[in-house]
Amino acid sequence: MGNLAGKRILLGVTGGIAAYKAVDLVRRLTEAGAEVRVVMTPAATRFVGGATFQAVSGHPVRDSLWDEAAEAAMGHIELARWADAVLVAPASADFMARLTAGMADDLLATLCLATECPLILVPAMNRAMWANPATRANAALLQQRGIRLLGPDNGAQACGEIGPGRMLEPVDILAALDLRAGSGELSGRRVIVTAGPTREPIDPVRYITNRSSGRMGYAVASAAVRSGADVVLVSGPAEIPAPYGMELVRVETAQQMLEAVHSRVGEADIFIAAAAVADYRPAEVADQKIKKKADNLSLDMVRAPDVLASVSALSRPPFLVGFAAETHDLETHARIKLESKNLDLIAANTVGPDKGFDRDDNALVCLWPGGREDLGHGSKATLADRLIALIAERMNAAPAEERQAHAGH
Ligand code: CTP
Repeated sequence: MGNLAGKRILLGVTGGIAAYKAVDLVRRLTEAGAEVRVVMTPAATRFVGGATFQAVSGHPVRDSLWDEAAEAAMGHIELARWADAVLVAPASADFMARLTAGMADDLLATLCLATECPLILVPAMNRAMWANPATRANAALLQQRGIRLLGPDNGAQACGEIGPGRMLEPVDILAALDLRAGSGELSGRRVIVTAGPTREPIDPVRYITNRSSGRMGYAVASAAVRSGADVVLVSGPAEIPAPYGMELVRVETAQQMLEAVHSRVGEADIFIAAAAVADYRPAEVADQKIKKKADNLSLDMVRAPDVLASVSALSRPPFLVGFAAETHDLETHARIKLESKNLDLIAANTVGPDKGFDRDDNALVCLWPGGREDLGHGSKATLADRLIALIAERMNAAPAEERQAHAGH
């Protein structure tokens, strides 16, 4: 969508506890220079009063098709034409179902059916509702029709449960909409991102893995899509819904990740290795469940393939971005990895209790040959946008020939 200044956003608010966050969203959109008109479903008015949205948007709020005075001022078809984008946040499971079915049973659903501008949904619901096959099918169909879904996020929910279904924070919705930070920066570039942990089998029922949730890698892949890139996400097992706008290749082991990457890397301009790939795997996988016998058991482990190092060893490698997750001496270790794997850039973060893994926020420091930039602390979505912007900047600063010379290729 590009810069939000002067953009006319029709914000639909549907019935869900996250409706209160939409008030902050209106404030932020307005601050970014957008003109916002709010339309609420009748259920949404049970959570937040229309007067609140009227106050923050500076315009009357509509919640009915049958309001004669409002229809006389700007009819619903006119309103549908007025918008540069329709953003529905929160989008409830019920609303997504109605949209999928093409219903026009309230003002917002009618507007969504009548508009020809981009439609963006920010789902918010209980994790079981999000996981329900009906919602999964609706989300997939809406995406196939070109409707963009932002989120949902993983985390604590109003109902006390934890899981995917939380509405993205307004700041992250803005980052996703406002492409100023990354607008078209990677347009036309082909990017491969690895994410998540790997699973190295021991026997048919056991495996070795690590604490990576995949969230940082998924956020980076989504940020690359926002900046116009063609993205392939090669993901180890992660409990994150398939993100929008990219090809998702699911793998389990380091070896499978290696193969998935190498079958596509010839085409890639950028390779971002955010996966926490196993360094070692059991030397042999028992074909039957290992039974307990002796008091001690030793597993013979061998090195798993290093996906990033193998891409770096290609004769014409793409622009290479690694991640370093460290518990101590962050920058020293990260710089060693940058040099030993001949990377163009490395993003370093501290991991450990309450840091890095399985959280929505993170802090990144980026290093490259001869340079450094602290991207600070923030949500993984925000940091991912900053990282993509930096990658674009570094690629322009160091053209491919120079980089290959530096890497000794
Ligand atoms: N990496 C990879 N394949 C591996 C191991 C790591 O692609 N088998 C990538 C990671 O995705 C990350 C970078 O390499 O981008 C991390 O470098 P590495 O030195 O291998 O980190 P660690 O595995 O964390 O090393 P160590 O355990 O020695 O700290």
